[in-house]
Amino acid sequence: MVRKLSAIAAGLVLGGLALAAQAPDPQAAVNNAFNQFKTLKEGKNADYIPALAKVDPNLYGIALITVDGKVYTAGDIKTEVSIQSISKVFTMAQVIQEQGLDAIEKRIGVDATGARFNSIIAVEGVKTVVGTGAPEMNPLVNPGAISATSMVTGANSDAVWKKIIGTYNDYAGRNLTVLQDVYKSESDSNQRNQAIGALMLAYGYIKSNWPQAVDLYTRQCSVGVNAKDLAMMAATLAAGGKNPVTGKVLLDPAKVPGVLAVMATAGLYDDSGKWLYHTGLPAKSGVGGGIIAVAPGKFGIAVISPPLDDAGNSVRAQRTITAISNALGANPYAVRPK
Ligand code: DON
Repeated sequence: MVRKLSAIAAGLVLGGLALAAQAPDPQAAVNNAFNQFKTLKEGKNADYIPALAKVDPNLYGIALITVDGKVYTAGDIKTEVSIQSISKVFTMAQVIQEQGLDAIEKRIGVDATGARFNSIIAVEGVKTVVGTGAPEMNPLVNPGAISATSMVTGANSDAVWKKIIGTYNDYAGRNLTVLQDVYKSESDSNQRNQAIGALMLAYGYIKSNWPQAVDLYTRQCSVGVNAKDLAMMAATLAAGGKNPVTGKVLLDPAKVPGVLAVMATAGLYDDSGKWLYHTGLPAKSGVGGGIIAVAPGKFGIAVISPPLDDAGNSVRAQRTITAISNALGANPYAVRPK
């Protein structure tokens, strides 16, 4: 009996998953992870967008925000990095909110490509022409994301942009701005995304004006965010589509599982399976060094640390979120039998 009680009090650790019996302390979990990984130096800043190579690789910030708006942080939660691919989640959410879950599934698809985020082979390798079969793409890899951006409605580029940045502002709960140096740097070096944009028009995913879609996509990737902004965006998804601090409803609760499912399948690109195996959490990375993860009904978490692994995911952010999630027993697949 005594042994049993102490095992429960300590939390049951099964295969790396802590099934804590006592309410775990989020601030302690955040602090422990910060101290554990603050000296980790693995990975390398992205440099195919020249401005990203100049970002301080030592930047390290953690923010966790619960569905009732409590905020727990460690490290640098003020310095902004470019949101990069994490933006794809919120443009997808915008399109789903306005046009429904079907719109994304039928036009872009919701399947993992198993390829790198900017793969052109992935475009060629799947059933390519819209209308000739279910598209096996998703809105979180570049071809699907540029196509999703093209689906945001508006009379002209300015009107579409207002909608995109307005959505991000609402999720973050404050007004965000574009990091102009990153926008310029990526605009000058994004020939690959331009090729993808042209291809997506050729195959019918984009209906018109692919240069506008690529430009707005590039701009959305250059929006500046800190760890707290990203955690708030993730917490909004964790809270069923309602920003836990402003109370604004941004996504119908019935549409949230679709968004989280695509994050679970494709959020960390070709490493998404590995990530899900260890955490069970829908997540999304960006080459600016941020990762968000969503513990549905519990919290959103974000970590910023620029050095990346070969798949384009922040090394330290992956380790940090995994440690915190395990400490808090947040894996939704982990259930202690009754
Ligand atoms: O289009 C690009 O290549 C970048 N703006 C975004 C890529 C990205 O963040 C992939 N992330 N892991």
